Amino acid sequence: MTSFPLKPSQDSLETACFVSEECKVSSTDNINKVAHLISEGKIGGVPTETVYGLAANALNEDAVRKIFQAKSRPFIDPLIVHVCDMQMAESVADFSDDARKLANAFWPGPLTMILPRKKCVPDIVTAGMDTVAVRMPSHKMMRELIKKANLPIAAPSANPFGYVSPTKAEHVIEQLGDKIDFVLDGGDCECGVESTIVMLTSTPKKLLRPGPIKASDIEDVLGEEIDRNPKKNEAHPQAPGMLKSHYSPKAKLTLFEDIAEIPADFSGEIVFLKRPDNPLKNHYWLSESGDAKDVQKNLFSLIRSLDKISKNGIYCQKPTSSDDSWLAVIDRLGRASAKS
Ligand code: TXA
Ligand code: MG
Repeated sequence: MTSFPLKPSQDSLETACFVSEECKVSSTDNINKVAHLISEGKIGGVPTETVYGLAANALNEDAVRKIFQAKSRPFIDPLIVHVCDMQMAESVADFSDDARKLANAFWPGPLTMILPRKKCVPDIVTAGMDTVAVRMPSHKMMRELIKKANLPIAAPSANPFGYVSPTKAEHVIEQLGDKIDFVLDGGDCECGVESTIVMLTSTPKKLLRPGPIKASDIEDVLGEEIDRNPKKNEAHPQAPGMLKSHYSPKAKLTLFEDIAEIPADFSGEIVFLKRPDNPLKNHYWLSESGDAKDVQKNLFSLIRSLDKISKNGIYCQKPTSSDDSWLAVIDRLGRASAKS
């Protein structure tokens, strides 16, 4: 019976470490070293404010291919290109006035924009499409790393395809440690779910994936409504984040709104949004008070921990609020509980 408080260490550059023993050097050196490894075509785990990414030089086709292989990710699924400043951003994508407005408002931060691509971005990154996903992360180590490498960095979430995204360095090591060249430890991820993705190349503009930046905040900046429920196309998903079953634990995950829905003889784990008044041994909670940001931050980490011990499945409480700040949690829970 426990919640999972996460230590906030994003502002520090002091926690870097690597999978391989010989790479354990001082932290600034670690960033330099990882920047060098990336420029050499190596791949590895990197911290961002949302979730850990599996990073490679976005301009190196062979390096990017290794990402797909390590994750068992289908090549039809394009990657996000991470940049550290507007100059780098404009070297990979065309920015409209609206794109600039959103960049001014939300970058650096957890917003990904789908924009027309520049020719220097290899097909393997964009799955051959004429658009590219771009994001300027706010995590201090990640920003420093991109700056040092002086290269745009392609990075999907650092999990095997379809599984829950990693929010701690050890999650990456556990699942991909033997397939990658390094893990840069930047502490626990502040947001805990992946970035909000907005497509600016369609009319109307579309919310492809809800995330830490609220749809209503994007609409306020753009001065127009965006399509919050774009039609899902399972054959050619615009974001596999859009696949019905994604972010799935191995254990059977069932959602409930009212505890009365849980069978009386259920002996598995029960997850609440906030601490129950009289918690039982198999009760867990995502936040003390039911705060949407805390729930979001702890969601993947708790599901991942329970997935390791669960024998009889997990019941998880579903938020009933229609407030925008719950959209990402509702979305991820819906996909994690769907079985294809
Ligand atoms: O927070 C995040 O976004 C994390 C961190 C590491 O930055 N990254 C992440 O990447 O979640 P990934 O690959 O797990 O999810 C990126 C999503 C995928 O669903 C992909 O299909 C979509 O972005 N995407 C990438 N390029 C696209 C494009 N040109 N058009 C439509 N969707 C695209
Ligand atoms: Mg992912």
